[in-house]
Amino acid sequence: MCGIVGYTGKRQAYPVVIKGLKRLEYRGYDSAGVALINEGLKVYKKKGRVTDLEEAAMGENLSGHIGIGHTRWATHGEPSDRNAHPHVSQSGNIAMIHNGIIENYDKLKKDLLAKGYKFKSDTDTEVLLNFIDDIQQNNDCTLEEALRIALRRVVGAYCLLLIHKDDPETIIAARKGSPLVIGIGKDEHFLASDASPIIEYTKEVVYVNDYEIAIVRPDELILKNLGNEKQTPFITRLDMELAAIEKGGYDHFMLKEIFEQPQTIYDCLRGRLDAGKGKVILSGIDQYAQQIMNAQRIIILACGTSWHAGLVAEYIIEELCRIPVEVEYASEFRYRNPIIHKGDVIVAISQSGETADTLVAIENAKEQGAIILGIVNVVGSSISRKSHAGAYTHAGPEIGVASTKAFTAQLTVLTMVALKIAHDKGSVSTERYMHLCQELAAIPEKVELVLEKADEVKALAEKYKDASDALYLGRGYNFPIALEGALKLKEISYIHAEGYPAAEMKHGPIALVTETLPVVFVATKDSYHEKVVSNMQEIKARKGKVIALITEGDTVSAAIADDIFELPQADEIVAPIISTIPLQLLAYYIGVAKGYDVDKPRNLAKSVTVE
Ligand code: F6R
Repeated sequence: MCGIVGYTGKRQAYPVVIKGLKRLEYRGYDSAGVALINEGLKVYKKKGRVTDLEEAAMGENLSGHIGIGHTRWATHGEPSDRNAHPHVSQSGNIAMIHNGIIENYDKLKKDLLAKGYKFKSDTDTEVLLNFIDDIQQNNDCTLEEALRIALRRVVGAYCLLLIHKDDPETIIAARKGSPLVIGIGKDEHFLASDASPIIEYTKEVVYVNDYEIAIVRPDELILKNLGNEKQTPFITRLDMELAAIEKGGYDHFMLKEIFEQPQTIYDCLRGRLDAGKGKVILSGIDQYAQQIMNAQRIIILACGTSWHAGLVAEYIIEELCRIPVEVEYASEFRYRNPIIHKGDVIVAISQSGETADTLVAIENAKEQGAIILGIVNVVGSSISRKSHAGAYTHAGPEIGVASTKAFTAQLTVLTMVALKIAHDKGSVSTERYMHLCQELAAIPEKVELVLEKADEVKALAEKYKDASDALYLGRGYNFPIALEGALKLKEISYIHAEGYPAAEMKHGPIALVTETLPVVFVATKDSYHEKVVSNMQEIKARKGKVIALITEGDTVSAAIADDIFELPQADEIVAPIISTIPLQLLAYYIGVAKGYDVDKPRNLAKSVTVE
């Protein structure tokens, strides 16, 4: 949510910053801007995409060896040229970009207005910037000192980059709650919200911690806390290749990421599951395995698609481990004074590892004595660092705003966690455990088979693309997959879609059924299958259109449905990983058929770092 980039060094800063912004555009794309220093402070900003900014800046003097850039997802103030970042302080001395929200901006703004300040934008960022500038002018101190004083009075979340017109070498950065990575080159430094703009220049990075200020020059990186004490930068080596963040011949990142799933699921299993020996090795949670096994309850916290993964995990963990599980929206949990007992196990699921609500929810729970397990995709992200233990999903960078491969990797890891705990605890028979290990190991191959039939889904997309609404239904393990299918359709094709447990349909949504309403059933063969077949009959009796995802050879369901998509046979515990794939494809192909930018859906942004 908002992408920020900075560069100081021997190269021309503008191309580095622009390229970086394009890599971060998935974090927000309603406006973009850059600030450079060449014969003074130069700022170019524009409503729209990074390419609109490039067009607007064409023909200008874009030289200079220092630059900061921003791609915005609006919070305070509508998307417009004047609300775009960077903002420049009233004195004209400082340019600043910001990812986050300043909660007490109103009070700060009133104080500044009383002093005669005038504001050009509606943003909280411009308020904070002038507050910093005001401190610097009144105290005759350095920008770094002014920033430190200001941040002690700020309530909210931020990642800030600042440059001063009289210092063409230094970027000052600060972080609380919104991510910041600094890449270390030879006589140059790169700053960004995540590693994707940095990876082609260097693999050595420092993840800045909350409440730290970084003073970054071409040949120097100084980290300090808000008490002005120097901190030792901890250098991490990135394990990521450039190809992972490029489209590689696909039309969209979303399609590439859908098609990557046989590999990402395989990568997720590699070195962790030995199906032949019946071994699940998750070294990241070993230390806490005993506590998890003995937990009175497990609480899963997440948002959006990751929350759907949590719902599937609830079914699996309760079935295999016989431990009560509650799945909560992190945004509700964090505000409702929840009861947490010492030793409760919290599982936080997050692709980005930066979702503000999930992050704060686990911080609160940790303070109350809970053990935090992080199931996270982005290595080194805030949630992974705040967790006691956990397992990475190893899906690689997910750039498409709608989550696809991260979701199936989450399901894969959560299934492994459940299998490990169940086996250690003895709550699953050896025979069932061995069978499930083999079923899980076979998933990448089965996902490959589904992807080979992508054209069948494309044909369905053509047939149903003009629907105004859709219903997604499933029971048991497939109920969360119905929710996920509906969410994907909403996000990518802007068709109103609802997911429901199939049996709940009779308690209200059935009123929507007409002969034009597509009803997508996730109806693979499992313990609930006969009941789902009855639900399909109920829809058909009311002339609804049934599209059914069924297990190969299920002639009964095939005879009822208007359209079918056959999936390879799989145990019900692992089947959701496979059932998800055609639903991702359906949303993708409908979005494309309707001419939408599926990688950057309207109003959305990846990595929701505001609450
Ligand atoms: C939907 C989607 C979102 C995210 C949600 C949580 O396609 O991507 O619903 O799942 O914003 O994000 P993470 O997993 O990064 O915490």
